[in-house]
Amino acid sequence: MIVLHADKNIFTPLVHNKVGVEVGVFKGRYALELLKMLPKSLTLIDPYDPDAYGSLIPEDDPTNNAQETLDGVYGSYYVGGLKESLKAAYKNLKQEIAGHENGKLVKFLKLPSAEACEQFADKSIDFLHLDANTRYDYVLGNLIRWEKKISDSGVIVIDNCYVTADAKLQHISTLEGLSSFLKLSDWTPVGLSTARWSNVVICKKVHENHFMSLIKKICIQNGVNFLEIPPQMLHSYHHKVEQFEDINGQINNYWTASFS
Ligand SMILES: C[S@@+](CC[C@H](N)C(=O)[O-])C[C@H]1O[C@@H](n2cnc3c(N)ncnc32)[C@H](O)[C@@H]1O
Repeated sequence: MIVLHADKNIFTPLVHNKVGVEVGVFKGRYALELLKMLPKSLTLIDPYDPDAYGSLIPEDDPTNNAQETLDGVYGSYYVGGLKESLKAAYKNLKQEIAGHENGKLVKFLKLPSAEACEQFADKSIDFLHLDANTRYDYVLGNLIRWEKKISDSGVIVIDNCYVTADAKLQHISTLEGLSSFLKLSDWTPVGLSTARWSNVVICKKVHENHFMSLIKKICIQNGVNFLEIPPQMLHSYHHKVEQFEDINGQINNYWTASFS
């Protein structure tokens, strides 16, 4: 597995000339980056409906402040409330795509992941970006459901694979869902971006060397340093959030990637 320090845009070249799909679109921040890479097609899947989000908090929550934590985090991300911000995001993105020079490559499926998945033939997708509900059961469910739709030499990019104390309070357990999936499948991780939020690229084990080589090339072309580590180390990946004094004497929080 190639470990690199860059944000998730580093992986967008993998969609070039490929059939791309994104599950969880919101304002289209990543979708618009994918579109720049000229995919063969790009299907954007999001119900834009709070009721289709699924549960964000487990039934047994010993912290008792999960809702409060979530309201705080979601309040700054979904400004004006979930319902209104999703509605506005869909309207704005549709408009933006309609006027985009590559807009003809895009198709919207305003549906929840499970329903949208049924519309795809097996092995018909080359690149899938998964960025919907980040709780364990939803992530694992999505990986199992979409796996058969990916072509033999396809990849899945999974967003929000970070583990921190804050992520735990929000019940983000994407990496745990991905870990379970990898332990029981013929897929392997080939890329891990350690910049905040962390994305992981997975592919079928038989294509591991091909994709690692491709990711190394992308890193070299973008001036990003990388190292190669055993794929099993992904299971212990997390961030330490530590305070350090910078060169100006300012105390800042730093996210440091760790496997220890
Ligand atoms: C974190 S946002 C996506 C951000 C986006 N990928 C980007 O890069 O800006 C999560 C999105 O997942 C969507 N979502 C929630 N449940 C979903 C489901 N069952 N199927 C598809 N999308 C879902 C939400 O509506 C929300 O827009």
